[in-house]
Amino acid sequence: MTSLATVKLTARQRGDFQTPEELAREVWSTLDAAQYDLVIEPTFGLGSFLTTMPSECKANVLGWEIHKIYYQAMIATFGEKIDSSRVRLLRRDVFTASGTDITATPDSTVLVIGNPPWVTNSEQGTLGGANSGEKRNLKNLSGFAAMTGKSNFDISEAIILHFVSLLKDRCRSVQFALLTKFSVVRNLVQFLAPHASIGDYEFHKIDSALHFNAAVDAGLLKFRLDKNSELRQTCWMYASVGGAKVGEIGLVNNKLIYDLAAYRRTGFMESDGRSGYVWRQGVKHDMSKRMELSETAGGIRNGLGELVDVEDAVLYQLYKCSDIFHGRQSRYVVPIHQRDLKDNLEDLPERFPKLHLYFTKHEAAFRARKSSIYRNRPTFSIFGIGDYTHYVYKIAIGALYSAPVFRLLEPNPRPAIVDDTSYMLATNDYDEAVYLLAIVNLDCSREFLNSISHATEKRRFSKDVLARLLIPPMEKCPPELRHKLKCEWARSRTFSTELQRSIQDWLSKDQPKRTEKMNFELLPNALTL
Ligand SMILES: C[S@@+](CC[C@H](N)C(=O)[O-])C[C@H]1O[C@@H](n2cnc3c(N)ncnc32)[C@H](O)[C@@H]1O
Repeated sequence: MTSLATVKLTARQRGDFQTPEELAREVWSTLDAAQYDLVIEPTFGLGSFLTTMPSECKANVLGWEIHKIYYQAMIATFGEKIDSSRVRLLRRDVFTASGTDITATPDSTVLVIGNPPWVTNSEQGTLGGANSGEKRNLKNLSGFAAMTGKSNFDISEAIILHFVSLLKDRCRSVQFALLTKFSVVRNLVQFLAPHASIGDYEFHKIDSALHFNAAVDAGLLKFRLDKNSELRQTCWMYASVGGAKVGEIGLVNNKLIYDLAAYRRTGFMESDGRSGYVWRQGVKHDMSKRMELSETAGGIRNGLGELVDVEDAVLYQLYKCSDIFHGRQSRYVVPIHQRDLKDNLEDLPERFPKLHLYFTKHEAAFRARKSSIYRNRPTFSIFGIGDYTHYVYKIAIGALYSAPVFRLLEPNPRPAIVDDTSYMLATNDYDEAVYLLAIVNLDCSREFLNSISHATEKRRFSKDVLARLLIPPMEKCPPELRHKLKCEWARSRTFSTELQRSIQDWLSKDQPKRTEKMNFELLPNALTL
């Protein structure tokens, strides 16, 4: 294999974000520097974690850096500051680090400190680089490839795991203190969960725009490896480096929970496959200029400004993700000419001749759609369509927002549909629509959904997240509650706090026996509205 140290990597391939000394000092201030025998800086760069090492730290120092200019600069500056017999700085690819480089003894206390590269393996792919360590020396951490093999992972994740693997049987304890993206923390907490001697995770948020001019959710990740102890498996979250503790994340039944306190209160809303309803993604057509039509005083126009003459009955009212979130009226109508995904649209000319004529005029644009989902499908086909699309009432949520806002969409006067960045429950029964709205809008539902998803996810309220919310079939709801729901909604189009509490009580008491391992007891009685 070519040595990476002989390859010219760009700054992006090296994930180069040099840490300001002030931030490195903050990181050191959270550590007891005097206790370590060996300090490892996996990718030291210009070396701020080494140049700011507190004087009470008498440890040996070991580090790697691939970039020649940084290496030379570091040797020049650091060499003057510290007794060189204690220091071993290598101009090498860190993925070549092996057991023979580690000078620790079984009694050693080691600190791994630094800021490994901020770049993902897929970015490496597009940059034509090979700086991922993917196929190098991670095989001894079985399961890593299975978990991250084909998916995208940060190369800092691979570097951290490389050192976990190198150090776990070579010393007494290791403290890791590394600046990383939050996504790395998520993966590590999940991946390392089976190892009881690895834990005590902490994540201290940093202002990455201020320190690195980068819009990334990043922070200081600390965790310990102590072969003689059982460590806490959850990760405490801090508002800033050494700042206030603001939460706790951890695994429950192998799924990451982003707010354990909230989940303890609302985990009874975990459906465990018992939900009576299926969330559906909205309509996808990739033809917004031609399919999203505006109703104007002068008639219906498309996004190209053309007047469009199509059958009234085929037009449905479109609610986009932002319309749902902001409680706005629909701004467009969309032709829904397809019955479901099996519909071959052969009878389209007979069913909707005017629409067929309009589509035929724009056939070239339909054929030019890039997404592979349209391949081998009828030319005018659209996606996210089923019998549910034609149901009269929809309970909708825009998935791209970081707060769960649900709305009941009623025909006005046309049936409502949602776009493909939104999800919905659909029914023809008005009472059922009201029941569904009441359940999804409970405080415990929203708190539960927030606890199982993370605000930085692009599609936070995905189908998978929504499917975890317990919504029993309406027939299971006690008749007196159903009656109250109907009456209150008819009277005021809201649900009283008292009624919401009653529904929440019903949901929290109707608990099946859980068989899987939970790392705490659920507390259904600690409910708050
Ligand atoms: C995010 S910067 C941080 C540098 C330094 N630790 C600091 O905190 O300022 C990452 C560093 O990793 C170096 N690097 C990237 N890939 C490497 C590899 N495979 N082996 C060694 N160093 C590498 C880069 O050149 C860069 O200096």
